[in-house]
Amino acid sequence: MTPTVIGVLASGRGSNFEALARNFRNGTTGGLVRVVIANVPDAAVLERAKALGVEGKLIDHKTFASRADFERALIEELEKYNVGLVCLAGFMRILSPVFVNHFAGRIMNIHPSLLPAFAGLQGMDVHRAVLESGAQFTGCTVHFVNEHVDAGPIILQRVVPVLDDDTVETLAARVLAEEHQAYPEAVKLFCQNRLQIQGRRVKII
Ligand code: GRF
Repeated sequence: MTPTVIGVLASGRGSNFEALARNFRNGTTGGLVRVVIANVPDAAVLERAKALGVEGKLIDHKTFASRADFERALIEELEKYNVGLVCLAGFMRILSPVFVNHFAGRIMNIHPSLLPAFAGLQGMDVHRAVLESGAQFTGCTVHFVNEHVDAGPIILQRVVPVLDDDTVETLAARVLAEEHQAYPEAVKLFCQNRLQIQGRRVKII
């Protein structure tokens, strides 16, 4: 079976990109990470791509007149590689229907909380809000992307207990370790054609 070509969009550190690139590097797992596109010139993810031998591209959103133009450039680049699945991995731009409709049902994101709790927040703000809320459990969510932020059908979640002595940093680190397991797992299911979107729910077949 030909592997599903995976394109990653990222804006920063790129640890989730790396987890995907390491899990899907030769197509034997059903998927192959061919390209990562960063929208920020100094994004560390581009260095990681180089080290891992994955094509890294910069498409700086600031050089486009509109969000739609930027997204059309992303689409054009991803289509050059025949990308079958787009993985957002710390991608800090909201995607409009121009992009979402083009890759409908073929875009995933990872969020560092148990959605729908703590949706819409980013980075350390998520973990700070979890600690302030007094929640005893948090985790991460891999979901399909629709036109609303952090709101698409949930594919899988991993639970992380909040410990009494947790700081934002210790909690973030434990959640991140789970992210690196959860994202490849969800992508593998997609590549094996085992995910069926049924309204709000995703059935694993
Ligand atoms: C992760 O916590 C992810 O859940 C969120 O952004 C962060 C990206 O981290 N969407 P990294 O760049 O993959 O290391």
